[in-house]
Amino acid sequence: MTKTQVAIVGAGPAGLTLAQLLHVAGIDSVVLENRSRDYVEARIRAGVLEHDVAELYEQAGVGGRMRREGLVHTGVELQSGTERHRIAFDELVGKTIVVYGQTEVVKDLIEARLESGRPLHFEVSDVSLHELESERPRVRYVHDGAEQELECQFVAGCDGFHGVSRPSIAADVLRTFGRDYPYGWLGIIAAVAPSHDELVYAHTERGFALLSMRSPELSRLYLQCAPDEDLDLWPDERIWDELQSRLGVDGWTLHEGPILEKGVTPMRSFVTEPMQWGRLYLAGDAAHIVPPTGAKGLNLAVRDVAALAEALVAWYRDGHVGLLDAYSETCLRRVWRAEHFSWWMTTMLHRAPNSDEFTLRLQQSQLRYLRTSPAAARSLAENYVGVEHA
Ligand code: FAD
Ligand code: PHB
Repeated sequence: MTKTQVAIVGAGPAGLTLAQLLHVAGIDSVVLENRSRDYVEARIRAGVLEHDVAELYEQAGVGGRMRREGLVHTGVELQSGTERHRIAFDELVGKTIVVYGQTEVVKDLIEARLESGRPLHFEVSDVSLHELESERPRVRYVHDGAEQELECQFVAGCDGFHGVSRPSIAADVLRTFGRDYPYGWLGIIAAVAPSHDELVYAHTERGFALLSMRSPELSRLYLQCAPDEDLDLWPDERIWDELQSRLGVDGWTLHEGPILEKGVTPMRSFVTEPMQWGRLYLAGDAAHIVPPTGAKGLNLAVRDVAALAEALVAWYRDGHVGLLDAYSETCLRRVWRAEHFSWWMTTMLHRAPNSDEFTLRLQQSQLRYLRTSPAAARSLAENYVGVEHA
């Protein structure tokens, strides 16, 4: 049996960021991940970091490459039909965002972890959590064919939506809230310079589209599709044709290039209450899911673990339990704000399969309001860059 202070289940952004924050504070942890390092580093997901999340990475000593390669954006464009309108974050709320892929964040964090010399085990299996209501919880798992037991003081459940942590909470304590949407996103990475220097969120009668990017040479683009869309029905040419018709505006060209990667993501909203049970603390997608339209998933995960690290530091330094006890409530306030914002952006910008003209007129009215009212635009901007006090 091995011992540590904090057992971290999952090496996604939540688990790896927590490991780094604890390391900086001199707190010991073991990270357990069931996939391989190559798999985790190649998984293409989010791309937008809130201002304060980028700052947190700087402060945690892992912001070097992000500072050099991340793209600072001062606004985004909203497109309604063929009209575009810019939401200027810097002017409206004095903050910016950083476009830097989740894959890059994860690579930087894994490198920092390996440099720290603290344990990070990939390809573990059969992870199970025990005695979570005691002061000495245990985590059992199999690594290199051998059964292992880890004794710790706290368990951080950072193992995503399909992990083992959330189901380890007693069923009579756990409450969940959620919604599935009747659409998903077909996302591509293309080897072509982004056709615009900021993100473009487009609402059209053919459905939603988003222009994003990963670097000056790589475009990231999304199309609204069915949640279970068959990718075989989408040869590259059809994807480009559809992107051209949804994103097209006069006097602007969407440049096409080789498609390097394609995938379909269904969309859901989901929240677990509470986010803590005994000595188990859930963070990130293990506790909540947002549809990606508000670019909040990764940011929420990082903010959860920032709160957890602060609470653990207070406990280890001064025996302070206040922040640990408040963890769930503190996180859930911000989580519900992001849930509302993500649901609002999603339902404003997508066309449901059997949506009626009434809904369309409401969406068009809301988009017009965002174009004409600085108060409405400021509210969107404040939520997009990250609300300070939810
Ligand atoms: P995860 O990234 O899911 O990490 C959890 C980790 O735990 C994984 O490495 C997993 O392998 C590991 N794990 C799972 N089970 C176990 C186990 N039993 N034992 C050990 N380890 C385990 N957000 C956006 O903002 N924009 C996007 O475009 C976007 N696209 C997405 C596409 C997909 C397909 C998905 C699933 C999510 C997407 N998200 C997006 C959301 C965003 O990527 C997540 O919110 C973010 O990854 C959350 O980080 P996390 O560390 O909490 O969870
Ligand atoms: C992305 O670049 O992957 C991205 C950007 C903004 C979103 C969602 C995804 O809202």
